[in-house]
Amino acid sequence: MAKVIKVGKKDSQYDVHIFNKSINKASIIKALKNNNKVLIITDSGIPKRYLNELKFILRPLKKLYVQEIPQGESSKSYSSLMLIHEKLSTYKFDRSDCILAFGGGVVGDLAGFAASTYLRGIDYIQVPTTLLSQVDSSVGGKTAINIDAGKNLVGAFYNPKCVLINIDYLNSLSDKQFLSGMAEVAKYAYIGNKKIKKIIENEAIKIKNKNSHILSMLIEESIKTKARIVTKDEKESGIRAILNFGHTFGHAIEAKNKFNLISHGQAVAYGMVIAGKISLLEGLINEKYLNTLIANLDKIGLDTDISKFKYQELKKYIENDKKVSEGKLNLILIDNRKAFKTNKFNSKNLQAALS
Ligand SMILES: NC(=O)c1ccc[n+]([C@@H]2O[C@H](COP(=O)([O-])OP(=O)(O)OC[C@H]3O[C@@H](n4cnc5c(N)ncnc54)[C@H](O)[C@@H]3O)[C@@H](O)[C@H]2O)c1
Ligand SMILES: [Zn+2]
Repeated sequence: MAKVIKVGKKDSQYDVHIFNKSINKASIIKALKNNNKVLIITDSGIPKRYLNELKFILRPLKKLYVQEIPQGESSKSYSSLMLIHEKLSTYKFDRSDCILAFGGGVVGDLAGFAASTYLRGIDYIQVPTTLLSQVDSSVGGKTAINIDAGKNLVGAFYNPKCVLINIDYLNSLSDKQFLSGMAEVAKYAYIGNKKIKKIIENEAIKIKNKNSHILSMLIEESIKTKARIVTKDEKESGIRAILNFGHTFGHAIEAKNKFNLISHGQAVAYGMVIAGKISLLEGLINEKYLNTLIANLDKIGLDTDISKFKYQELKKYIENDKKVSEGKLNLILIDNRKAFKTNKFNSKNLQAALS
């Protein structure tokens, strides 16, 4: 049986279903019951057998179209968006039709934004295929493309009609991609989910072996935490900021490395260690707590050696981060119980954490 988690408030509420082996036919049919045509948007890196399975389920029941985009971040662009809009109009999509985002965060963000803008908004559902998209990007309704001035600068808050997760898809992910998603899972442990912390502490080997029972629990708990936060704060005016734990430094590290080599999750893992170190220097946590955070990231295979990053080299990227408002840098710091946003910290501690 699928696990179901509800996300969002009243009118825009949607269900996230988690399946272990394959997406249940009845669930996908139910999700699309009011839709006539379906455009699947997917990318060139997703194993074809998954798409074929999905088509096999849907083809007898819906008028089905598929649009593949090249894999990679560069597909989150105006040109891909335009291509999708053109296809929707060629296939005469109207408001009774639906987009199905079938891929990782790139596909989800692009397809969701295309859905939010076509005819002022048509339905879309998310079928995320990477760990990062299953525990993070498919939930919360943020959609976007990139422009030259920066990542995700053009987008909309637009909730999907439902999210269907199949854990089995994760078996074909590269280790790097899997680990990137695991960093976001670990993040939830430090922004309020004690169960995740326990599982990481006790079951690291099973996590590395992609044990489906453990993964299912981790994904469910991650989504529960994200759902709780985004339901409280749909448009990111308050508590949602804590989802960015580790991200100010993570983004700076990604930018300095020109978004190459280091995965997003690995960069966030370094960022969590840096934010943890500042929390220690601010007297919010003790050394044991920081050491456990580092040990837990190590256990699942993430690198935690931040000695290679120096304040002077990261400074300009940290200051560029969009979480600087009115000239003050906001950070997400942690104490023993929670994560919180603050601009009241000693800047010497920030420098010392990166010395
Ligand atoms: N909307 C949000 O709230 C939110 C949150 C976090 C990240 N994001 C966005 O998500 C994007 C990153 O997403 P991502 O990490 O999923 O990367 P991605 O979508 O680029 O996918 C990574 C790679 O994995 C391949 N792939 C996907 N599923 C696979 C599978 N099951 N087996 C084998 N290969 C597979 C893809 O083809 C791609 O090459 C970024 O653009 C980021 O900005 C959005
Ligand atoms: Zn992230």
